[in-house]
Amino acid sequence: MSEAAGKVSLTGIKPSGEVHLGNLIGAVRPALRLAEEYDSLYFIADYHALTSIRDAELLRHYSRSVAAAWLAAGLDPKRTTFYLQSDVPEIFELNWVMSCVTGKGLMNRAHAYKAARDRNVEAGEDPDAGVNMGLFNYPVLMAVDILIMETDVVPVGKDQVQHVEYAADIAGSFNHLYGDAYSFTVPKAIVPESGTGETLPGLDGRKMSKSYDNTIPLFLPENKLKKLIRRIPTDSTPVEAPKDPDSSSVFQILNQVAPPSAADVVADTRKRLEAGGMGWGELKNVLFDVLNTELAPMRERYEELMEPGSELDETLARGADRARTRAGRVLGAVRRAV
Ligand code: ADP
Ligand code: TRP
Repeated sequence: MSEAAGKVSLTGIKPSGEVHLGNLIGAVRPALRLAEEYDSLYFIADYHALTSIRDAELLRHYSRSVAAAWLAAGLDPKRTTFYLQSDVPEIFELNWVMSCVTGKGLMNRAHAYKAARDRNVEAGEDPDAGVNMGLFNYPVLMAVDILIMETDVVPVGKDQVQHVEYAADIAGSFNHLYGDAYSFTVPKAIVPESGTGETLPGLDGRKMSKSYDNTIPLFLPENKLKKLIRRIPTDSTPVEAPKDPDSSSVFQILNQVAPPSAADVVADTRKRLEAGGMGWGELKNVLFDVLNTELAPMRERYEELMEPGSELDETLARGADRARTRAGRVLGAVRRAV
């Protein structure tokens, strides 16, 4: 039996933008691979997004869109528990209890809060300018997301590891005080390797990120996808000149996103670039074809799920029922303990 057998894995997905190709490679696919080994829970952290998104329509849209994207990418809601954070009120009750066992100093040292303060100080502003209590308390709510589901492992990107360590710390404080009555499972972060262990470059060669506005959104209509790929900047190396595939972001995207079934195409493209005779335009056509073949079935499923009244809402409601049953057990024990 594998080490993961019987263990619980949980991932929260903040709905703060449209899912892009970098998210697919770096987060969605690695997390879905883990679902094969662990007893898995996935949720849309919509109340975490509330620290920055103030437009209700937009938050509703991103929450549905991110949920639909994960389902379209292969998340199986029968084998996993998939829910919206705001559908599980138990989380917000436990949030208060856990705030009362969390040192303020720990929150002062959290990366996101510290970064906001540093930016303010640098700009000569009050250190807490524009910082709301949601941003400050963010790590407590995230700890509760994890602890209330009795999570063993949390697959996250490197930037979220500190938050998982905080969850372990906060669990420790509670267990120290109330451990005779109830003890939380102490969680561990795991940072899954993406396909090639690298970050996917965006349209401008920097890391693909919505903060840089350089992404390839997963579910663009075909013609828009084609246009976007055509717009990736390339240099003026002539068609016949040999080219270094590894310094071209078009090739890197192809290499990291292509499924195993397109391995021959990737290998052949690499050879032709190195030998000379393949221009950037042709390379972009290859990338479009491979991407479009990979994404077309997902796009169709995504669009079905995004229709008003689709099965998406029902799927999330069923997930919330399961999540609430699980969370309710833990909250009941905590209430008795405190
Ligand atoms: P963004 O940078 O667009 O704001 P997020 O920070 O919301 O993306 O990232 C969500 C998840 O997707 C994280 O686990 C992160 O590691 C992964 N991810 C984001 N961009 C990339 C990328 N360019 N390459 C690989 N993984 C990425
Ligand atoms: N903070 C995570 C992010 O910004 C999202 C998140 C919220 C999360 N709660 C979580 C991730 C619990 C893992 C476990 O990406």
